[in-house]
Amino acid sequence: MNRVHRELQKLATYSSSEFPAITRVLYTKEDLEARGYFISLCEEINLRIRFDAIGNIFARWEGTDLTLAAVATGSHIDAIPLSGMYDGTVGVFGGLAAIRDLKKEGYKPKRSIELILFTSEEPTRFKIGCIGSRMLSGQLNKEQVLKLVDDKGKKFDDARKKAGFFTSLDDVALSKNHYHSFIELHIEQGPILEKEGTDIGIVTRIAAPSTLKVALTGQGGHAGAVLMKDRKDAGVAGSEIMLAVEKIAKDSNSDDTVATVGIFDIKPRAVNSIPREAYLEIDLRDTNVETRDKCLEALKHRIKVICGLRGVDYKLEMVNCDPPAICEKMLIENLENITKKLGFKSKKMISRAYHDSLFMALIAPTTMIFIPCKDGISHRPDEYSSPLAIEKGVMTLKAVLKDLTHS
Ligand code: GLV
Ligand code: MN
Ligand code: MN
Repeated sequence: MNRVHRELQKLATYSSSEFPAITRVLYTKEDLEARGYFISLCEEINLRIRFDAIGNIFARWEGTDLTLAAVATGSHIDAIPLSGMYDGTVGVFGGLAAIRDLKKEGYKPKRSIELILFTSEEPTRFKIGCIGSRMLSGQLNKEQVLKLVDDKGKKFDDARKKAGFFTSLDDVALSKNHYHSFIELHIEQGPILEKEGTDIGIVTRIAAPSTLKVALTGQGGHAGAVLMKDRKDAGVAGSEIMLAVEKIAKDSNSDDTVATVGIFDIKPRAVNSIPREAYLEIDLRDTNVETRDKCLEALKHRIKVICGLRGVDYKLEMVNCDPPAICEKMLIENLENITKKLGFKSKKMISRAYHDSLFMALIAPTTMIFIPCKDGISHRPDEYSSPLAIEKGVMTLKAVLKDLTHS
């Protein structure tokens, strides 16, 4: 087994669920311990560590010309509940491996290289994804981040300070020319590369994600005593909305529209009580932003109609509605040449999942290196990417870092 794989296995022990299920939520003990492990490995190879006010970690290998902007790579190590050990982590520990190898070879970069561990790419705790890269790129400002509260009522600001990050939130955003470029290594999270026997996916676009919160208030009551004709059941209204989400995505005339109700809660949640409240979180994405927006409008209309007919009040909150990312042509061509030279089969592809690259693309020329994962499975405990697939990803990243930083 190669070193990255061993490190990923060690990283997987920092989890609040039992292996192979991984759960690593922002600023929890597991997240902070995992970050500590990452930092210790960076220090072993003398990378200079910097944190910002929300815990993005920057591990820097200084180049010989400090007037030049650095080339950055990196990803995330937080993991949604009961997920796998490769999502995000391959980009962080694979990035470290690429840098370690280059150092071992005696390479001296002209441009500095920065490895970034992004805070909370997953939306688990504060309901919005990519908090770290969103703030870095200026898409989430101080006022907005100060409003974030978790399910237990804990404010983001208190949570980050408790985790040891208390410098000014004004200093997180980076300027447009801060980095020369950004390249993220990640598992594909889809089946294409494995099915086709392709080693490396080169990402040209990232689909546009959106998240909608829906809070419903109907009328509770006794499950035996209230007649069907008199009910304002928030749970049933929520169920109808859930079906509408599926129908709207299926009817969009585009295979690229995907929509999911990932959270659906009812209250008071007792078998003999009519649900008084329901709460849904809806994830709706498309590679085509117009189609995505049309679906969102259709969904909002359906929610209004469903709730009107059922006498249920509703509140909508659009958590995020992001544009797609367009990756940099020069980097894509670079990667095509590099994979050819390395003898790896590559293909250009779209990322349907979002990544920190979605936001980094707004402040730096960006692309992603995808590697195959077994059966395209991700966000599940049986997520798997082979040591060889990871090795090829690291070799590709290493070559592109070298190409972009040499004198
Ligand atoms: C990232 O994890 C996503 O949901 O696409
Ligand atoms: Mn993920
Ligand atoms: Mn990821």
